[in-house]
Amino acid sequence: MDQQKAHVSVLDHGFLYGDGIYETVRAYGYRVFHWPDHYKRLKQSAKRIALKCPYSSDFLLRGVTQVLKANKSPRGSVRITLARGPGPLGLDPSVCPKPTLAMLLHPERPLEHLWKNGVSIGIPQVRRNHPKCLDPQIKSNNSLNTILAKMEALRMRVFEAVLLNLDGHLTEGTTTNIFFVRRGEIFTPALSCGLLKGVTRGAVIQLARRAGLHVHEGRFTPADLRRADEIFLTSTTLEIVPVVRMIAPFLRPSLSRSFAPNGPITRRLHALFRRLV
Ligand code: PDD
Repeated sequence: MDQQKAHVSVLDHGFLYGDGIYETVRAYGYRVFHWPDHYKRLKQSAKRIALKCPYSSDFLLRGVTQVLKANKSPRGSVRITLARGPGPLGLDPSVCPKPTLAMLLHPERPLEHLWKNGVSIGIPQVRRNHPKCLDPQIKSNNSLNTILAKMEALRMRVFEAVLLNLDGHLTEGTTTNIFFVRRGEIFTPALSCGLLKGVTRGAVIQLARRAGLHVHEGRFTPADLRRADEIFLTSTTLEIVPVVRMIAPFLRPSLSRSFAPNGPITRRLHALFRRLV
């Protein structure tokens, strides 16, 4: 339906408490990229907050396709939100019998200039949620942690904020995963650092390993980024975007550095990714 007519109850615990989960998927020619991975993550996010997800993979995929077709958007992204649903006030989720399901089209944005010219990143002061507080593996509607980071990104005038965890190790961007390249090898923070297991991250790791490149998942710091030959971000909506500038004004201004936008490994991986698409 038209977005003007789509309403959610003010008693929905998704609205009141951020109690819900979501997925963002991307289509190419109306076909959703790596749908089984997204469905699996949706189910896992729901399970981790004991949220009923009575919808089959086929049902949700049909919904996504309907949204794309209704909007004549063969290459669009769709956000699937599953909220706890309406219920009496109070945090208790068991009083909400019916979850709310909504699918929204993301407006398409041109990406070619980002792929070509790259983007900037900054390290914010706010730290990524500790997995023992709110596990970043849950793709939760409760985005305040990354919204605070996004606000810092805007203040730093950078495209993306890359959050550290409480131990000072790199985790991820507000809506992206991060990789860097050094001496022809690829590095990305391990899931144990506390970050979302990105679908694009998984696809890139697989593509790189199949191409004979070494990928290391581990614990890294902003100083490792500073020493990198190339840095890039990945996400469903951006694919692979090179980083051309990093700043860390709250750590050490000397960590700032610029990079060329056309690093050979980033370019090669994006070519492989485009072929996969
Ligand atoms: N964001 N990390 C976070 C915190 C994210 O929100 C996302 C995805 C990613 C990248 O994951 P994937 O490759 O599966 O898209 C990493 C989506 C695009 C969003 O918020 O809409």
